[in-house]
Amino acid sequence: MRRDRMAAPNPDELKSLREDFQKKNQTCFILGASGETGKILLAEILRQHLFSRVTLIGRRKLDLEGQPYANVSQEVVDFEKLDESAAAFQGHDVGFCCLGTTRAKSGADGFVRVDRDYVEHSAKLAKAGGCRHFVLQSSKGADSSSSFLYLRVKGEVEARVQAIGFDRCSIFRPAVLLGDRQESRPGEWMTKKILGAYACISPTTMTVPTVTVAQAMVNNVVMPGKDGQKVEILENAAIHALGKTK
Ligand SMILES: NC(=O)c1ccc[n+]([C@@H]2O[C@H](COP(=O)([O-])OP(=O)(O)OC[C@H]3O[C@@H](n4cnc5c(N)ncnc54)[C@H](OP(=O)(O)O)[C@@H]3O)[C@@H](O)[C@H]2O)c1
Repeated sequence: MRRDRMAAPNPDELKSLREDFQKKNQTCFILGASGETGKILLAEILRQHLFSRVTLIGRRKLDLEGQPYANVSQEVVDFEKLDESAAAFQGHDVGFCCLGTTRAKSGADGFVRVDRDYVEHSAKLAKAGGCRHFVLQSSKGADSSSSFLYLRVKGEVEARVQAIGFDRCSIFRPAVLLGDRQESRPGEWMTKKILGAYACISPTTMTVPTVTVAQAMVNNVVMPGKDGQKVEILENAAIHALGKTK
């Protein structure tokens, strides 16, 4: 495993990598496409025409109309009975996972269920369905031995997804996401106000724009993985570096 690899390619290299990738006609699924990161990721994937087919796997159907969504299909699944929806995961080359909840919304048990168990189960079905590259949105500080529930669960899910043995597994560890969340989360709002100001002094330490994370994910996918290296962990500074090139 190696951390913080993938210096950003220059725009010309990236353009060429993207064109090569488009020619492969690959398919992908996104878990969490209704969330802050997931919806920007979906928009970026469609804007760049990266995949011949995109499947959104979620607990509810999203209102997506019109030409931009012509090659998008949706699979509504019950995450508590995920084996019944194994077919939804079949036949995708790449899987993106931006799933997650909070302890405040779902309680401690609910948080573990979503952020660890749903993700692990989805990843297993994806692997069984032929997925070769799994892209997991984890968190800065993820650590399976942490005494903090959030960081421990993030560390645990990283370890479990790695153990599944994808040909390539890219783990993103963003710091606090800066974006335009519609949902009211007062504590998070205040934290982001303070950290947003701090970002002016030290942009890559405590925060990262959500759009940068999404851009880094698509850039990561079009760049070939390094031979013999199955797992890449991208810390916050690496996400900034990789996500700055459009
Ligand atoms: N927010 C941050 O500052 C931050 C920082 C570092 C890492 N992260 C991590 O990054 C990931 C994405 O964060 P985000 O803020 O972009 O996420 P988000 O906006 O909260 O979206 C979460 C996604 O997960 C789905 N989801 C939540 N609970 C679910 C459940 N019980 N069953 C099925 N689906 C469920 C949501 O679907 P619905 O729309 O149906 O609810 C949504 O698509 C999370 O794992 C988070 O822990 C976040």
